[in-house]
Amino acid sequence: NELSSIRPMTFGEYIGQDKVKNNLEIFIQAATNRGEPLDHVLLYGPPGLGKTTLANIIANELNVHIRTTSGPAIERPGDLAAILTSLEPKDVLFIDEIHRLNRTVEEVLYPAMEDYCIDIVIGKGPSARTLRLDLPKFTLVGATTRAGMLSAPLRDRFGVISRLEYYQEEDLVTIINRAAAILDVRITPEGAAEIARRSRGTPRISNRLLRRIRDYAEIKANRVITEDVAKSGLTLLEVDPLGLDKIDRKMMLSIIQKFGGGPVGLETIAAAISESSDTVEDVYEPYLMQLGFLNRTPRGRMATAEAYHYFGISLPKPLENVE
Ligand code: ADE
Repeated sequence: NELSSIRPMTFGEYIGQDKVKNNLEIFIQAATNRGEPLDHVLLYGPPGLGKTTLANIIANELNVHIRTTSGPAIERPGDLAAILTSLEPKDVLFIDEIHRLNRTVEEVLYPAMEDYCIDIVIGKGPSARTLRLDLPKFTLVGATTRAGMLSAPLRDRFGVISRLEYYQEEDLVTIINRAAAILDVRITPEGAAEIARRSRGTPRISNRLLRRIRDYAEIKANRVITEDVAKSGLTLLEVDPLGLDKIDRKMMLSIIQKFGGGPVGLETIAAAISESSDTVEDVYEPYLMQLGFLNRTPRGRMATAEAYHYFGISLPKPLENVE
């Protein structure tokens, strides 16, 4: 169906992230030539940039199966042992949100990654024994929004650590045109550019906006996504010219209006906009910082002069210079 085909399955179809892609292609080719499993790969970066897509492409290009799970889904060491022992040689195990693995599970992962084995405790009390179990050689692909949230011993066991960046507008245009062809909707170059500009560098957002603008074009506009159609549709979705949505604006405006521009703590901001502090930190802050609207300081978050200007609010006092 269109949902599965919109996700690229090969490096050839995957647009952008050139550095990450070029490196992975080399490592995959080299491992394949040697008949070895690929080293463990850690992918990190803001949500929606294609970590899961890349994990699937890695498995596909290695010509192996992928087993997908997530940090919070693996509750006990036995859960992880069950998964690891069911893999076939060279398979990919993909653990999304790997920073949310608990300690006891993480400790099972260390020898699994390093020596492809696990130690199982049999029995209780004085008669308890450990049994060392060999595992098939596998590739762990871990994904996280922030590499800094991983413990050092876990991070150190990845042979490849790749950071995904926000996409350039021109790459998003290519992604939008590809998706529009799959969704069978006509779009002009200006229409694609307008959606790309308002997608916060994020393919997941551009693909979602494209679907909504397709709806709008089908009902209100003769089925073609032109620049005007994209602009009117995006205005209706309350996505502003920089791609900021209601929550981004609520967050910036509360820092500026409720907290005098800051510094204000993460928890306070999260409470003010009724989001979790993790969501604020992983989803909203990275793009606002990239735009230059928000600074992190040791005393809290601060709105920048650029943010005041964008929202049409005059500066209360000269802002302190902060790194
Ligand atoms: N759809 C979502 N992300 C994509 C990418 N990086 N390349 C091609 N299509 C995509």
